[in-house]
Amino acid sequence: DGVKRVFSGIQPTGIPHLGNYLGAIESWVRLQSEHSSVLYSIVDLHSITVPQDPAVLRQSIWDMTAALLACGINPEKSVLFQQSQVSEHTQLSWILTCMIRLPRLQHLHQWKAKTAKQKHNGTMGLLTYPVLQAADVLLYKSTHVPVGEDQIQHMELIQDLARGFNKKYGEFFPVPKSILTSMKKVKSLRDPSAKMSKSDPDKLATVRITDSPEEIVQKFRKAVTDFTSEVTYDPARRGGVSNLVAIHSAVTGLPVEEVVRQSAGINTARYKLVVADAVIEKFAPIRSEMAKLKMDQGHLQKVLQAGSAKAKELAYPVCQEVKELVGF
Ligand code: ADP
Ligand code: NA
Repeated sequence: DGVKRVFSGIQPTGIPHLGNYLGAIESWVRLQSEHSSVLYSIVDLHSITVPQDPAVLRQSIWDMTAALLACGINPEKSVLFQQSQVSEHTQLSWILTCMIRLPRLQHLHQWKAKTAKQKHNGTMGLLTYPVLQAADVLLYKSTHVPVGEDQIQHMELIQDLARGFNKKYGEFFPVPKSILTSMKKVKSLRDPSAKMSKSDPDKLATVRITDSPEEIVQKFRKAVTDFTSEVTYDPARRGGVSNLVAIHSAVTGLPVEEVVRQSAGINTARYKLVVADAVIEKFAPIRSEMAKLKMDQGHLQKVLQAGSAKAKELAYPVCQEVKELVGF
């Protein structure tokens, strides 16, 4: 029917970091103004694929709500909701789970990487969460999904499930397309071979949107670089410095060549502070908005409840139709 619908999700597993912001949230903010139908989900069901402390998880859901609003997600322009409050996600997920073969999931890179990290003792949820992702997307008959590079394989799975369902039950789901969010992975400040991640135990590796200017300076000061003092962009050979350049370029909106040109004659130690300043400036309004929002739990609750009710309204009829098609 030609209508575009955008869907994306983020796990409530801690305060978003620079990678989440540049790799996802910033483009979410843009997309909600460019499209009339946009849904963003705080995917709490996904977060329990690994152990979570209930009190910490509950707090993280509020923190993520506040963080997304502070970053510019506007509930007037997009539906911001909590996945677990729309029970149709798990219902559709089960139906799709029954349409996919075990080896297809076992061959996904992320499963292999994550289960290896857990000594091949990962939960069934960790194995099947890409199917839950498919349900998240298809439940709203989404046409476009902003994703990072790491999710391309999962998007292919979602597309296969949509096609498979349509083949068996008749044309029903649009086959969703990826919108690649342009930012390459932001790397850990301590190990440029790893991505910046919410769950990194090294506190200096990850810059959060709520970090104070002092914390941001400290983290960039301690960023791992190399023994060459010039600032150049060469991700293959100079991962650490190139990560700083990429961050600098992304937060200022200037091309990589331009930030490198501007940094001629500055050594990397000095350059770290330049990048720290650019990040501090970028996050200052977000940080103060976040502090305000966190003091008004009632407001956060209202926003999330209203969003979840809107999502439910969209999801319910689709799920009913699916059940009928399946023969329930
Ligand atoms: P994390 O891996 O830190 O827990 P999530 O899995 O919740 O983050 O991912 C939320 C979004 O942020 C996804 O779209 C993901 O691609 C993006 N993202 C996560 N880490 C990075 C990073 N280091 N650089 C760029 N984008 C990232
Ligand atoms: Na919109």
